Amino acid sequence: MVIKYKTHHLLALFHFLLTCAAAAPDDPNPPLRLRQSSKWIVRHRTHDSNPPPSPSYALKFENPRLETAYFALQTWKKTILSDPYNRTVNWVGPDVCNYTGIFCFPAPDNTSIQTVAGIDLNHADIAGQLVDELGLLADLALIHLNTNRFCGTVPKTFKKMKLLYELDLSNNRFAGRFPSAVLDIPGLKYLDIRYNEFEGRIPSRLFDKHLDAIFLNHNRFQSELPANIGSSPASAMVLAGNNFRGCLPPSFKNMSATLREVILMDNGMEACLPAEIGMMTNLTVFDASNNRFVGPIPDSFAELENLEVLNLDHNFLSGEIPEAICSLPKLWNFTASNNFFDGEAPECSGVEAFRDGRNCLRGGRRNQRTRWQCEMFESRRGKVRCEDFKCFETKPCQVPPPPPPPPPVPCQNSTAEGPVDYDVGGDGNYQIQSPPRRMLSRPPVKESKRARRVTVEDARPASLV
Ligand SMILES: *[C@@H]1O[C@H](CO)[C@@H](O)[C@H](O)[C@H]1NC(C)=O
Ligand SMILES: *[C@@H]1O[C@H](CO)[C@@H](O)[C@H](O)[C@H]1NC(C)=O
Ligand SMILES: *[C@@H]1O[C@H](CO)[C@@H](O)[C@H](O)[C@H]1NC(C)=O
Ligand SMILES: *[C@@H]1O[C@H](CO)[C@@H](O)[C@H](O)[C@H]1NC(C)=O
Ligand SMILES: *[C@@H]1O[C@H](CO)[C@@H](O)[C@H](O)[C@H]1NC(C)=O
Ligand SMILES: *[C@@H]1O[C@H](CO)[C@@H](O)[C@H](O)[C@H]1NC(C)=O
Ligand SMILES: *[C@@H]1O[C@H](CO)[C@@H](O)[C@H](O)[C@H]1NC(C)=O
Repeated sequence: MVIKYKTHHLLALFHFLLTCAAAAPDDPNPPLRLRQSSKWIVRHRTHDSNPPPSPSYALKFENPRLETAYFALQTWKKTILSDPYNRTVNWVGPDVCNYTGIFCFPAPDNTSIQTVAGIDLNHADIAGQLVDELGLLADLALIHLNTNRFCGTVPKTFKKMKLLYELDLSNNRFAGRFPSAVLDIPGLKYLDIRYNEFEGRIPSRLFDKHLDAIFLNHNRFQSELPANIGSSPASAMVLAGNNFRGCLPPSFKNMSATLREVILMDNGMEACLPAEIGMMTNLTVFDASNNRFVGPIPDSFAELENLEVLNLDHNFLSGEIPEAICSLPKLWNFTASNNFFDGEAPECSGVEAFRDGRNCLRGGRRNQRTRWQCEMFESRRGKVRCEDFKCFETKPCQVPPPPPPPPPVPCQNSTAEGPVDYDVGGDGNYQIQSPPRRMLSRPPVKESKRARRVTVEDARPASLV
């Protein structure tokens, strides 16, 4: 394979201008298509009507896929505005498999050739954006871009990555509506877009996809949870730190066979906790803290025999904390503080990490609300009727839809604060240590490691805790 190196330079520059122009506020989805740009290549390869004056030396590629990868990566590199750790400095020349952060492996359909199978630029602090040409990396199995400063959104062309299994864009500056391009990636199992600035609604299609892990936390999503949430086969779902409102949809219980960890904290969820959650006996973590849930803890929670962590902190829950819950065999961390509970079984004190401060508990429990606060609550909201929330009607809760989100801000002048430094996947579970292609055949994620990853502490940057 022989191509003109200089042509690529120009191409990349051309693309850069095009995408930046196309990212104008009234056009959130740049229309540049792969087909167009490849046509452009072809035209320039064959015509080369105005060849660059400098010595145009030739590059030799091991195989055509690496040549394509070269083109995609060089185009991407051209959009990088800052690379403080020099991770892409050695992205030069035809040996793309030697580039820092790029991992090659024999192609699944032709094991005699190497192709790009993984991109791992975690913690690189790179500022830039994703380019359409990345969709040309058809053999990619995983993309890890945690803790960078990428902005814009996910190009539509990502749907061409038929083998893409893990997409981790966490802790960047992506913005705009939910990046629906990810819904068209056929084999995606692990989606992590936490700590970005996505906003608006989340599409119901997200829950029809066969994703094993869904991390949406700490964005600016603002909507009710889609009614079909229960269609998701995910084992971990972290929705924390957005502005989700309304009821937990009735279909939630449909995830009983698969869902193990769910973190709803820091949203505006309301109504009563549905008794059906008690059917979700595989749950190990249920965190509904910092919402507006009301009513009692359903007795059915006593069925959650695998529950290890239960966090109900900062809601408007009331009634008694039942013995059967505090006696759950695996429960070791139960936070019930900042509610209006007025009774608790003695067994609760036996839970290893139990917190019940700022409730209406009497009989010597320390650090409780004042009698006055409890009486006020009792008179205003004490007699909660769960039916009043009409969670089981076809339209779950009568909340007006949010206004459409404004178009994404242009990338070139990001006013976002510096990247939050926190360690995601610090256990190495999601970092490439052996050739990444193995990710395709291995089972999604090992539970023990997952559990570590999903605790609230892991989901929050240290500086926010
Ligand atoms: C990156 O490269 C520049 C220029 O060669 C150098 O000044 C800088 O110290 C390098 N930064 C790091 C973190 O290595
Ligand atoms: C990759 O880099 C290493 C060391 O930097 C070098 O020895 C090796 O030849 C390079 N591989 C190719 C294919 O150029
Ligand atoms: C595998 O790739 C090599 C190098 O491009 C090519 O010569 C060969 O025909 C391919 N084999 C198959 C089965 O596609
Ligand atoms: C999922 O939940 C909905 C609403 O509760 C219910 O109508 C539907 O039958 C459930 N589907 C399955 C497969 O259980
Ligand atoms: C819990 O998970 C196991 C295996 O993963 C499954 O067989 C079982 O049916 C699940 N429990 C429920 C209540 O669906
Ligand atoms: C128990 O969980 C709460 C909230 O989920 C957390 O803040 C606390 O640190 C946990 N306790 C222990 C001992 O890990
Ligand atoms: C970037 O945005 C800030 C604040 O909006 C503005 O003051 C500054 O002039 C902008 N810089 C550029 C290069 O556009």
